[in-house]
Parts: sequence; C-alpha cells; structure tokens
Amino acid sequence: MVRLKRFGVSMERSLLGSFDRLLKKKGYTNRSEAIRGLVRRWLVEDEWSKGKGKVGVLLIVYDHRKRDLSARILEKSHHHHHLIISTLHVHLDENSCLEVNILKGRPKEMERLAEQLIATKGVKFGQFIPAASGKGL
Ligand code: NI
Repeated sequence: MVRLKRFGVSMERSLLGSFDRLLKKKGYTNRSEAIRGLVRRWLVEDEWSKGKGKVGVLLIVYDHRKRDLSARILEKSHHHHHLIISTLHVHLDENSCLEVNILKGRPKEMERLAEQLIATKGVKFGQFIPAASGKGL
C-alpha cells in the first residue's frame, strides 16, 4: 500500500483559480492528483537534464510514396535496432504513415536517433517525448 503524506500549500487566490480551471479542463478530478502529475513531470525533466533518461517515445509522420523514404527510415531504424524496442506503424490514409517508436538506451543516443529520423527528408512531422522509467514516481 502506498503511504501518503499531506502537506499544506499557500498561493494567491487568482493563481489557485487559474490552476483549478486548468486542472478541470485537463480532466483532473482533484488538486492532489494534478500536483502529483506536475511533480512527476518535473522529476522526469530533471532525470533527462542530468543525462539519466532511459526511455523515450519517437513519433513520425511521413508519406510512404516519397521516393526511397520508407527504405531510408527502415535502414536507419535497423542500424539503431539496439535503441528501438518496439514500433507501431499505422496507415493513416492512402499516403500518410504514423510510426511510434519506443526507445530505450542512453539519452544522447536516443535524442540523436530521434533527430536523425525527424530530419529525414520527406518526414512531415516528428516529435520526441522523453518518458520516465517509472522508478521513484
Ligand atoms: Ni503505412
């Protein structure tokens, strides 16, 4: 069982009002859950800033009809097979593909691979999301 500890937080009324409106909009049911989410996000950012990130998600959207693009993406992915632990490929429509790659490894290597794939000529959209290993969260 998880042991919880209560603590008091003081803040300006207007700031609290803005926080309450935002957490409701985002779907949080109470302040505690929203604050826990913010703290966890901060911890993940800190983990990555210290070069200790271990897991990340890379998504790219591209047109598979572009000359050699699928082959170039596949080539780069195979070259870095030790970093990519899983890939989900979705055919969004007749032309567009969405690929979600779960990366695991050294932060710099993951970021470098993400940059390379996102910068591949013909990739329409790409985003790398540093994620948490789950430890300490
Ligand atoms: Ni496809």
